[in-house]
Amino acid sequence: MAKINFGGVWEEVITSEEFPLAKAQDVLRNETVAVLGYGVQGPGQALNMRDNGIRVIVGQREGGPSWQRAVEDGFILGETLFSPEEAARRGTIIQHLRSDAGQKTLWPVIKPCLMEGNALYFSHGFSIIYKDLTGVIPPENIDVILVAPKGSGRTVRSNFLAGSGINASYAVFQDYTGRATERTLALGIAIGSGYLFSTTFKNEVYSDLTGERGVLMGCLAGVMEAQYNLLRKNGHTPSEAFNETVEELTQSLIRLVAENGMDWMYANCSTTAQRGALDWKNRFRDAVAPVFDTLYESVVSGREVQIVLEANSASDYRQRLERELEAMRNMEMWQAGAAVRSLRPEKRGK
Ligand SMILES: NC(=O)c1ccc[n+]([C@@H]2O[C@H](COP(=O)([O-])OP(=O)(O)OC[C@H]3O[C@@H](n4cnc5c(N)ncnc54)[C@H](OP(=O)(O)O)[C@@H]3O)[C@@H](O)[C@H]2O)c1
Repeated sequence: MAKINFGGVWEEVITSEEFPLAKAQDVLRNETVAVLGYGVQGPGQALNMRDNGIRVIVGQREGGPSWQRAVEDGFILGETLFSPEEAARRGTIIQHLRSDAGQKTLWPVIKPCLMEGNALYFSHGFSIIYKDLTGVIPPENIDVILVAPKGSGRTVRSNFLAGSGINASYAVFQDYTGRATERTLALGIAIGSGYLFSTTFKNEVYSDLTGERGVLMGCLAGVMEAQYNLLRKNGHTPSEAFNETVEELTQSLIRLVAENGMDWMYANCSTTAQRGALDWKNRFRDAVAPVFDTLYESVVSGREVQIVLEANSASDYRQRLERELEAMRNMEMWQAGAAVRSLRPEKRGK
């Protein structure tokens, strides 16, 4: 493990330097990794592992779009593609990569397939930590482990193909075999993680549910809407409002943050922008802090999980979700966004 100074706090991390791919291949030499669920994370992790020389099979219900995709990605029915139940039986490491609501539904089918010494793997602490709501209580004679990529399954794959990686946290909930940690790290390297940092199932799920409801998605969309609406209310055109709210961020400023940090982005903006942003940053921080407190409480109490399980277990959850996303897509702001994107030089072939 490498010790790294994170702003004054020392943490141990693992990269492919401390844990080379060859070591991961060796640890997983006699394992069959069964990936249950081929939605967003399933393909990213399964394909990266397969490319890295790990024996991977997929467990996916037949006929749906996810099954079709697994076929297109080269998994062969009866050889490397099975029903979830059959894959769970054949695997020695069972990756539960259905949606979190789908994990609950599938658990009664999967549990009897788990054999002594198997590892049950998650990419979220959700099912285990909220066991009173999900019913996911693993048998004592298996390892229970986690690697949670901090990014969409799409970028788990696209970064891997581009020679980069998505950072991931890892945790061991139950170590029956005494090999749980090395299995976890080997899987973390095999799925192409940038670097691996240690967590617990509880901290992973609390931080993840907060992050996606907060800055990463919910808060991001909310503050963008608020600013866009303000500009429109005051007579600015959609083009101006969208450019000042989203396009400048995604095409310019956030790239500078990714490259070299927030101060670097500030340093590369006008002195006028710097002065105002430095002053207003703290006001926004203080304004949203109480909302974040409420959000974290809602995560810890299990309220957020209850909402997710109810909504995503409904038989028409996909249709309902699509209606909500369609409403978002049809908002003036995001329609303006589509127009702005169509004008990017690369879209015009210039
Ligand atoms: N999305 C991400 O990028 C991401 C990032 C980090 C961690 N994770 C974690 O990784 C795990 C997998 O997430 P995901 O986003 O990849 O899942 P997903 O795409 O929503 O679903 C994966 C599979 O679950 C099946 N499924 C979905 N809802 C179901 C339901 N209600 N009942 C039965 N089956 C259902 C789907 O099969 P059908 O097509 O046959 O319906 C699909 O193949 C989760 O624990 C998630 O929290 C995800």
